[in-house]
Amino acid sequence: MTPNVVTRSAELRDWVRVARTHDRTIGLVPTMGALHAGHLSLVEASLRECGATVVSIFVNPTQFGPSEDFQRYPRDLEGDLAKLAGTGKEGKAVDLVFVPTVEEMYPEGCTTTVDVGAPAEVLEGAFRPGHFRGVATVVLKLFNQVLPDVAYFGHKDYQQTVVVRRMVEDLCVPVEIRVCPTVREPDGLALSSRNKYLSAEERRQALAISRALRAAADVAAGGERRAEKVLSAMRGVLEAEPGVRVQYAVLVDPLTLRDMTEIRGRALAAIATYVGKTRLIDNIMLPRSSS
Ligand code: PAF
Repeated sequence: MTPNVVTRSAELRDWVRVARTHDRTIGLVPTMGALHAGHLSLVEASLRECGATVVSIFVNPTQFGPSEDFQRYPRDLEGDLAKLAGTGKEGKAVDLVFVPTVEEMYPEGCTTTVDVGAPAEVLEGAFRPGHFRGVATVVLKLFNQVLPDVAYFGHKDYQQTVVVRRMVEDLCVPVEIRVCPTVREPDGLALSSRNKYLSAEERRQALAISRALRAAADVAAGGERRAEKVLSAMRGVLEAEPGVRVQYAVLVDPLTLRDMTEIRGRALAAIATYVGKTRLIDNIMLPRSSS
């Protein structure tokens, strides 16, 4: 069944008020559309765990830099609604899809933004200045509009989950953040709406990213604790693929996102690259060594 679509916050609020009087826990899956199996896995998690599920579809202009792909970011509302209609089982389905306009989310004269600080400044933040200000601002607006009990994000945008968690804690937002595993193609490529930009050759080249992460995981699983050794395995795979231009390939503490020199406890390997004109990110939590 095609889910109900609302475009105005006022309509959304009316729906939220009723859902709350029925004591239904509300799950929110914030997206920018161009939905793929990764997004749908978040929707399925919300359908399983919450009494009602809201999906937002909004290509948020404030999280794109001036030379980034805001204009050409893939948009396919009809296709997205058809995919959402196919989710859920046993009578559970997406209750509402919120598709606001830019004016609805950023009314004329609005000046308030959310700056999360340190976790937003490294990695993606260093290469995409202002990106997380845009993300945190729009996510807080969505939280205030939908009043979700639980919000679902993908592990692929790991730093985004750290930034959102920090914001939620710092600003006392009463929402639980759930992070769901990255969904990959059978050959390892992490699903991303931007994969659509890749030519066949670039798609082949992009496989070096997941191969590099796997190489890092294999070295760590073998008991290696020196970050430089793990990094050298990861970077070696990337360097062997000339079509891939690396922005960063790092090993960081998953809580602070600071570089690690020695692996103790959990460690996150994270990569950002250009393949042709397409910027792709991916990451993996390294397995703890068995030795
Ligand atoms: O991950 C995304 O698609 C976006 O950053 C989000 C969370 C929907 C905010 O615009």
